[in-house]
Amino acid sequence: MLEPRFSTVVVALFSLLVVWRSLPTAESAIGVNWGTISLHRLKPSTVVNLLKDNKISKVKIFDTDHGVLRALMGSGIEVMVGIPNEMLASMSSSTAASDIWVRQNVSAFVGKGGVDIRYIAVGNEPFLTSYSGQFQSYVMPAMLNLQQSLAKVNLANYIKLVVPCNADAYEAELPSQGAFRPELTQIMTQIVQFLNSNGSPFVVNIYPFLSLYGNSDFPQDYAFFGGTTHPVTDGANVYSNAFDGNFDTLVAALAKLGYGQMPIVIGEIGWPADGAIGANLSAAKAFNQGLINQVLNRKGTPLRPGIPPMDVYLFSLLDEGAKSILPGNFERHWGIFSFDGQAKYPLNLGLGNRFLKNAKNVEYLPSRWCVANPSRDLSDVTNHMKLACSMADCTTLNYGGSCNELGAKGNISYAFNSYYQLQMQNLQSCDFDGLGMVTFLDPSVGQCRFLVGVTDTSSSSQAYRNWVSVQFLILWGIVVFLV
Ligand SMILES: *[C@@H]1O[C@H](CO)[C@@H](O)[C@H](O)[C@H]1NC(C)=O
Ligand SMILES: *[C@@H]1O[C@H](CO)[C@@H](O)[C@H](O)[C@H]1NC(C)=O
Ligand SMILES: *[C@@H]1O[C@H](CO)[C@@H](O)[C@H](O)[C@H]1NC(C)=O
Repeated sequence: MLEPRFSTVVVALFSLLVVWRSLPTAESAIGVNWGTISLHRLKPSTVVNLLKDNKISKVKIFDTDHGVLRALMGSGIEVMVGIPNEMLASMSSSTAASDIWVRQNVSAFVGKGGVDIRYIAVGNEPFLTSYSGQFQSYVMPAMLNLQQSLAKVNLANYIKLVVPCNADAYEAELPSQGAFRPELTQIMTQIVQFLNSNGSPFVVNIYPFLSLYGNSDFPQDYAFFGGTTHPVTDGANVYSNAFDGNFDTLVAALAKLGYGQMPIVIGEIGWPADGAIGANLSAAKAFNQGLINQVLNRKGTPLRPGIPPMDVYLFSLLDEGAKSILPGNFERHWGIFSFDGQAKYPLNLGLGNRFLKNAKNVEYLPSRWCVANPSRDLSDVTNHMKLACSMADCTTLNYGGSCNELGAKGNISYAFNSYYQLQMQNLQSCDFDGLGMVTFLDPSVGQCRFLVGVTDTSSSSQAYRNWVSVQFLILWGIVVFLV
């Protein structure tokens, strides 16, 4: 008689243990942004395995790249897909347009064994001040159309529409005074009402790094999570880091619209590790680990004690060497992994692994580099360098970058190699009028890495495009010269 009871207890205890063991993963809300504006793209399946190996179960992408979606099929990973700002006008124009988009880019991938799409981001930071309102009027009509299209295919209850907002959508001297920019009050009211009626969260991107980078008066330690000598006192509340202050400014802005309890998701947050003073490995590690620990400790903020953001998507998974450097050279270096899936620093995501695991089975080109030929006079190299760096990524050479100390010749070699790898080690691409030369000795020094490209077949079309534009640039150069 005792035995069955005993085993029941054991089973109950065991299931309790299983539930308890799985709780931390179920509760932790850390995901990543997976952008693909890359010069050397890893195979999507390699990236999905990287996510799985690191137990990352939430990913945000910026479009609906079918190669990426196919790789995510059956992975169990929750996905936020995106509609680029440039498509908002068409989405807002008719339900016919949104119907096709939903059919081609969502319904075709969901279902058993498919992609677990949970959110659709309608635009990406569409209210950024620098867009001067050009996308503003499309957001709400696009959402209404998309909601109808989702309802038609019975996905409206499962997939939620959200609008990732930049933090410059709201402002205040002190967090408690937070309010949306006056010209956004009306549209934000509509959006927030819509989100609330669908049980969707407010998604915001917060970047203490940009506050620090753009403002020499910004106290450096306030950007991190280790305490500050410059706390911000707001009535009874004291803020010791920029993230909390920014988050509560949003909470106050939402409260002004009557939605102070609305769940908040951090759509992007992170720290670049190269390309600027203050963008380095130790700072990136300190920021990201501090953020993760604070979220997982469920500390919350003064206006939402004990209630951390419901999800936090780190920016970013991988470096993206083809991104515009208009914001700064750091823009290509946000990854917690380098472009080829190698962890840049130890980071505990709180998802079960104590450290990041590198990508497996990455297919590299052969171990070959292109460098400046030491026996040649390099005084005529400027145009070659300019051309190479306009196509490939040379941002680490600049002040604050990991390759800034290479010296003149090292700079040239770095530029030559970056270009050579971009051209998939095409022999001609290392010629540079005889100034370049292929070597089998890795020229990397210290933290400055001379990369070797990866061989994702889907990036060969990109290399071809670049090659065509090189020809064009050369032609153009000749024309300019002749004129
Ligand atoms: C589906 O998404 C892709 C990639 O984001 C886009 O290029 C394409 O135009 C979309 N399809 C429709 C019908 O809008
Ligand atoms: C890294 O950046 C931080 C600030 O972001 C700075 O305090 C630190 O000195 C930098 N470290 C190096 C080695 O440059
Ligand atoms: C190498 O290139 C970088 C970026 O253009 C520049 O700042 C640096 O001064 C160069 N170094 C030398 C020795 O020319």
